[in-house]
Amino acid sequence: MVDGNRRLHGTWASRWTFILAATGSAVGLGNIWKFPYIAGENGGGAFVLIYLGCILLVGVPVMMAEVMLGRRGGMSPINTMNHLVREAGAHPLWRSIGWLGVVVGLLILSYYGVIAGWALNYVVEMASGSLQGATGKESAARFSALLADPQQLLLCQTAFMILTMGVVIGGVTRGLGVAARVMMPMLFVLLVALILYAVNTGDFAAGARFLFSFRYESLSWDGVLEALGHAFFSLSLGMGAIMAYGAYMPEGAPIGRTVVTIAFLDTLVALMAGMAIFPMVFATPGMAPDAGPSLMFQTLPVIFGNMPGGLFFGTLFFVLVTIAAWSSSISLIEPGVAWLIESLGFNRVSANLLLGTLCWLLGIGTVLSFNLWKDYTIAGNTFFDVMDFVTASVMLPLIGLLIALFAGWVMKRDQAKEALSDTSPLLLAIWHWLLRYVSPLAIGVIFVFGLYNKFA
Ligand code: PHE
Repeated sequence: MVDGNRRLHGTWASRWTFILAATGSAVGLGNIWKFPYIAGENGGGAFVLIYLGCILLVGVPVMMAEVMLGRRGGMSPINTMNHLVREAGAHPLWRSIGWLGVVVGLLILSYYGVIAGWALNYVVEMASGSLQGATGKESAARFSALLADPQQLLLCQTAFMILTMGVVIGGVTRGLGVAARVMMPMLFVLLVALILYAVNTGDFAAGARFLFSFRYESLSWDGVLEALGHAFFSLSLGMGAIMAYGAYMPEGAPIGRTVVTIAFLDTLVALMAGMAIFPMVFATPGMAPDAGPSLMFQTLPVIFGNMPGGLFFGTLFFVLVTIAAWSSSISLIEPGVAWLIESLGFNRVSANLLLGTLCWLLGIGTVLSFNLWKDYTIAGNTFFDVMDFVTASVMLPLIGLLIALFAGWVMKRDQAKEALSDTSPLLLAIWHWLLRYVSPLAIGVIFVFGLYNKFA
């Protein structure tokens, strides 16, 4: 069964290709766009610390579980879970892990494509030179003008979705590895350059203080819930992406070390993005750390607009962000695509066109929530806010909880160990303990307090 499916979808060329592809999935808008802005909205330091705790105590164990489940099942998340639930003799309700994951992935992609469209728009804008020498005020005005223009947003979103579908049609295991090998290191180098620039010209001390000094009073329980949800979002957990990629993993690749590497890289990129953005925020009049979703798009053009070679580096930066978003989008759609191919006899092209079009249609809601529908809100939340909250803060942690419980309690310990046989016994023991006790407890507590705090 497993071998048949490996032939159907392909296998990664090596362990490194898996690391690159999984990192490609993990590193995206979540790191560069979302992490800085939600850290800013939640007051910085305390949020960052809670986030790091969530990555370590919940994210890493759940990610290992997802890779393990994927490798043992060897199919799309839906069929993998069907198979493993049968094998464990568990209640059929556990199969919902696979189904829910596919649905959340598509919901996320619907708005992810819109934000990635912004990045695409900035590639053109940067290259045109219109933001050269821009002040904070001009840059902010430019971004507001983009958000106010539904046609422009729709155009960018559509272009990005076509880009995404194009690659998935080409076959994930082939195209992606190559892209990730070149683009990841480049993005990394550019972030280092931005930080160096911030050290020289921004208010680096204020930026670092904001991100790393612990101010307990600035964090609320719904901020903690946001941190937990973002740990899932940023590591691409809880929606089957990592499970699907795990299914294409060759035998004998050590899961524990691989996952720790990916989580480390992902966290590093997020912190680096913060270190590039906040020093500039504090050095530029009219900018605030709690600017929300516009933070990155207002701040970085001011840096690029005023640094030597900024036209080139600015354009390159937004190209790389678009590519990072694109390698994440592919993993958002892949679980659904793999399932349509396996179970309903679709081919890669038609499966992609169908799901991509659905996401595109739903994404129009997000496009309009920034302009024409701005005033249609639920308790002050726009369509985009609701989508973001329901997927990232509610569904991902909830499915993560189910995954932890299934892999930690329902699955036979020997089966889990067998799939993780190449992980050292000590790491395995720590993993199992974290997965059984710490992760579910942490998710449960944060969930209850976070939702209570938000709605009560
Ligand atoms: N991890 C991606 C990011 O940080 C987003 C993503 C979420 C991708 C869930 C796949 C699954 O941008």
